[in-house]
Amino acid sequence: MDVGGGSSRLADELVNRVYEDVTVLDLSRVAVDEARARFVTNAAERIQPTWVVADILSWDPPRQYALWHDRAVFHFFITDADQRTYVEKVVAGTSRGSHLVIATFSPGGPEMCSGLPVAKWSKDGLAQRFAEHFSVVDALEQEHTTPSGATQPFTWLHMVRH
Ligand SMILES: C[S@@+](CC[C@H](N)C(=O)[O-])C[C@H]1O[C@@H](n2cnc3c(N)ncnc32)[C@H](O)[C@@H]1O
Repeated sequence: MDVGGGSSRLADELVNRVYEDVTVLDLSRVAVDEARARFVTNAAERIQPTWVVADILSWDPPRQYALWHDRAVFHFFITDADQRTYVEKVVAGTSRGSHLVIATFSPGGPEMCSGLPVAKWSKDGLAQRFAEHFSVVDALEQEHTTPSGATQPFTWLHMVRH
């Protein structure tokens, strides 16, 4: 499950590596349509991901996923209520042993992402937010280079559901 996958190429890379069960969810129909069109164009014998246009905060996961990936979505949730709802969705969409890979702006990062205010997370703070259900396997601070060449400091966590 790539939450907020938008038109990123993670799903392409997974399918290229012969993962057969890939889901991409995004709020933006435009982004999903763009990604889907890319898959159709390159179709041949490629596996198609499951595409979902939804707001993760009001979507009810119909199943559990072995891996939940989120790069630069959770940080849009700036209220305690929205963050709690997001955690509930992750819990509903995973099971014991599922992996959670999540990346947000880190404390040194920008105040806004895509023109919207964001919450910035340290490794410890982010781990704490999910600690009731997930244990940290690995953590990383990364200087991410955007397509326009800017750098943004990200906090990455790899966690496993306990
Ligand atoms: C900064 S982009 C990151 C895209 C991709 N994950 C990447 O790393 O390249 C954030 C994405 O999250 C999506 N998004 C924002 N809020 C969302 C929500 N409430 N539910 C689902 N997707 C959301 C946006 O439409 C956008 O595609």
